[in-house]
Amino acid sequence: MSVITDTLAIHGGEPAVTRPLNHYKGAAQIGEAEKAAILEVLTAQSLFRYYGPNLLEKTAAFETDIAAHLGLPFAAACSSGTAALRMGLIALGVGAGDEVIVPATTFIASVNAVVAQGGIPIFAEVDEYLCLDPAAIEPLLTERTRAIMPVHLNGVAVDMEPLMAVARKHGVAVLEDTAQACGSAYHGTKLGTIGDVGAFSFQLEKNITSGDGGLVVTHDEELYKRAVKYSDQGGQFPIQSGGVRGLVGGEAYLGENLRMTEIAGAILGVQLGRLDAMLDRVSIARQSVLSAVQDLPVQFPSPTPHRDQHALGILFYLQTSEQAAAFVRALRGEGVPTAQVYGGKPVYANPQVLEQRTMTRTCPFRCSCTDHRKVSYHVGMCPRTEDLLARSVGVALGPMMDDQDLTEIAHGIRKVAAYIAL
Ligand SMILES: Cc1ncc(COP(=O)(O)O)c(C=O)c1O
Repeated sequence: MSVITDTLAIHGGEPAVTRPLNHYKGAAQIGEAEKAAILEVLTAQSLFRYYGPNLLEKTAAFETDIAAHLGLPFAAACSSGTAALRMGLIALGVGAGDEVIVPATTFIASVNAVVAQGGIPIFAEVDEYLCLDPAAIEPLLTERTRAIMPVHLNGVAVDMEPLMAVARKHGVAVLEDTAQACGSAYHGTKLGTIGDVGAFSFQLEKNITSGDGGLVVTHDEELYKRAVKYSDQGGQFPIQSGGVRGLVGGEAYLGENLRMTEIAGAILGVQLGRLDAMLDRVSIARQSVLSAVQDLPVQFPSPTPHRDQHALGILFYLQTSEQAAAFVRALRGEGVPTAQVYGGKPVYANPQVLEQRTMTRTCPFRCSCTDHRKVSYHVGMCPRTEDLLARSVGVALGPMMDDQDLTEIAHGIRKVAAYIAL
């Protein structure tokens, strides 16, 4: 092992991390079982979930298994997390001009999905975990508020109890964006199962992955049927095989194709079997690094085991945005996978959101419709969120990191902390 000096790597010193780190979650564990599952589907020549020469019903089986894993009756697989959010919004009846409360910190897909339905994202402040702050919701409600979209960020649960209380009090639906938190829980209840609908992503960065893929879950059979129907060209197919298609029934609507392939379903069936062990490994990794750096004079969010048990990395704040940027630059130099969360900026600071750029003339921003209120966005809208993000440092951890990797990550953080005047 090379000798680690205390000179920062960006100043020519030895990097703290001595080998490339794999921070991926489900992807880092892909192996023989996934290969075998794909081969089975290929050999059966049945890559479509509803029929084929020798349909194996892998996608349908994955739906059954993940519904059981999460503890609810209905799960509908689809092509991406964004598709899942759109199916969820449609199931809940969100349409042109309806307002949806979205946290100011999230991936752009949460916003895109709302706008794709003609809905208006209304941005809310976040708490110290960068999750939608339930206390921020009530002042944003209007007669057009149709849904609240809590986003469980990086494996951490939104504080769902007060959030659900506000939603129920005002009769507003809750769509949990669980893209980044498959398998995480809130007070022991799996995320995605607390609100009216949960939406998951299986994109490469996620806890289980098929490259792209998504899932909608709900306790409500009607919401489930609406979501499935929309994702399958509006539901005009009578075929009774391959899971849900034949169960949905009823009249057809105009819809689109947001279906999952059998290849994706087969991979996810295998990945699901690894989910809990993967989350436990990341949790142990996180405790190991946290305990080695917790005395540093940085601000960690207060420990909340009922929310952060399956956080996927380490989050802390420095005193200024300049310090945070310098910290991230130096820590990257040390070989640690790190970034300011979402580049240190709220989602509405993306120019396409600020300028309300859609690609066609359509509701809610580029229409002549007077049926809804016009909103505008500006930097400064959610000052607490902006302040937290600008000062944030996030470190990604993965299930394949071993003791040496974790020791080196902690050493890298300590090395940089000693250098930056905190
Ligand atoms: C919070 C959040 N919502 C939605 C999505 C969209 O998922 P996908 O990329 O599968 O469309 C993602 C991730 O990529 C995400 O992180």
